Amino acid sequence: MLLLSIETSCDETAAAVVRDGREILSSVISSQVAIHAMYGGVVPEIASRKHLESITPVISHALQEAGVGMEEIEGVAVTRGPGLSGALLVGFSAAKAIAAARKIPFVGVHHIEGHLFATFLEKPVDFPFLALVVSGGHTHLYHVEDYGHYTTLGRTIDDAAGEAYDKCAKIMGMPYPGGHLIDRMAQSGKSDAIRLPRPLLRDGTLNFSFSGLKTAVLQHTMKNPVSIPGQDADDLCASFQEAVCHVLAAKTEAAIRQTGAARLVVAGGVACNSGLRLRMAALCEQLGVELSIPHPSLCGDNAAMLAVPGDHYLSHGLVSPLSMDVTATWDMDSIKESLK
Ligand code: KG4
Ligand code: ZN
Repeated sequence: MLLLSIETSCDETAAAVVRDGREILSSVISSQVAIHAMYGGVVPEIASRKHLESITPVISHALQEAGVGMEEIEGVAVTRGPGLSGALLVGFSAAKAIAAARKIPFVGVHHIEGHLFATFLEKPVDFPFLALVVSGGHTHLYHVEDYGHYTTLGRTIDDAAGEAYDKCAKIMGMPYPGGHLIDRMAQSGKSDAIRLPRPLLRDGTLNFSFSGLKTAVLQHTMKNPVSIPGQDADDLCASFQEAVCHVLAAKTEAAIRQTGAARLVVAGGVACNSGLRLRMAALCEQLGVELSIPHPSLCGDNAAMLAVPGDHYLSHGLVSPLSMDVTATWDMDSIKESLK
């Protein structure tokens, strides 16, 4: 199927044209990051307004870049949730309008389902697999049995990993979102320079907690102000990155041992992180597990990733009704019930 996919759950307006859930003909991402950076984080009202301005040009651009006309599109996949309701509504309404006008099927997809399957655009992974999703809103370990069949094994009980990166960057005086800046500075720092906690490391669950780490960084900087650029700041970034990656790797290892997983997918914006990529590669090598992490260009929010589950659902007749609405919160584990 030739699918148009649309993503507007947060601060990126994105559209893509993808053939058979595999071949990306175009992937256009219009980021609002520069606007939100002025406020130190995403302002929902501004996000909705910017999506409204960008949605039509972004879709037109995606079709043009793919070299296909709207009349050739056979289905639409769109993020239904979770995310900011007003932001989701813009992409979701556009998808429904196109589906209704063109009399083609559309399907509402879970945003994290998109992240999970982004790696399939490079190389499909055999089911079942274990997935670590690390983004601005999620830090979850899932057992993935098939499309739509997800079981949460562990999750953050407070901040997500990306959120912790962004908050730590903010404490250090860096612009939003600062995850990639910490990653870059960490490469020139000493990871054992500052002792930071390893939250929930030995609690016996597969859950995560990052808010205490953020507090530890705040307390450290209050006693030892850092200046950027500077070795102190690089050392703090490297120590923070070490603490986050250590916990992510330890819990992932525990999940692999508990489930006997033979394959691991790491996905979401934080999967761009150089330290995490190296750590996961070493872990999988040591345990003999096949690792799939998408290219960094497919880790962050994009629309192409939605076309993978979208194509699967539509080609199996799992079409969403036009009466469907967006949902700001949506439990991945509940999707399997809706497929029965
Ligand atoms: O998946 P994503 O694009 O959006 C959400 O669904 O949340 O993830 C965005 C998150 C932000 O918190 C951002 O700071 C973080 O991913 N991020 C990184 C890196 N690149 C993006 N965190 C650490 N290291 C990076 N290189
Ligand atoms: Zn995302």
